[in-house]
Amino acid sequence: SFAASANSERSFIMVKPDGVHRGLVGDVIKRFEQRGYKLVGIKVLVPSRELASKHYAEHDGKPFFPKLVDFLSSGAVVACVFEGKDVVKTGRTMIGATNPLASAPGTLRADFAVDMGRNIIHGSDSVESAMREIALWFNADELATYATATQAWVY
Ligand code: TYD
Ligand code: MG
Repeated sequence: SFAASANSERSFIMVKPDGVHRGLVGDVIKRFEQRGYKLVGIKVLVPSRELASKHYAEHDGKPFFPKLVDFLSSGAVVACVFEGKDVVKTGRTMIGATNPLASAPGTLRADFAVDMGRNIIHGSDSVESAMREIALWFNADELATYATATQAWVY
C-alpha cells in the first residue's frame, strides 16, 4: 500500500537546452512516468546566467564551467520535480553516465546523445543536492501534492 512518507523522495530532473531543441522533452518525461515516478513540478524557462551558475556552483573554477554556464543559459530548459521511491539514485541510473559514450545502453544519455557537453538531461546526484536544486528552481507553491491512480499499484 502507498506510504507517502516512505515514497516521497524527490529529484530535480531537467531537460537541458539541447534536449528541448531536439524535441526530447516527451521522451524524458515518458520514461520517468512509466517507471512509476510522479511529476509534481514542471516549468519551461530560459535560465539566466546567474541561475545557471548557481545550479552548477559545485563546478565553479573547473575548466569546463564557463562553457557549461553558457550552454545551460543558451536556450529553453524544462525543469521538473519527480517523486517516488529512491528517485534520486534510480533517476541517475536511468539517465546514465555523464559521458554519453560511456553510458549503458537503455539509459537516456546512451539512447539520445554522444557528446559530454550535449548530454540532454540533468538529474540530482544526492538527496541533499535534490533539495538544494528544487529550492533553487521552484517556489514551494509550484509543487503539487496529489494522489495518482497508479500509486496504489506500484507501491
Ligand atoms: P557533472 O555534475 O560532473 O555530471 P552530471 O551531469 O552527470 O551530474 O557535470 C555537469 C555537466 O558538466 C555534465 O552533465 C556535462 C558537463 N561536463 C563537461 O562538459 N565536461 C566535464 O569534464 C564534466 C565532468 C562535465
Ligand atoms: Mg552533476
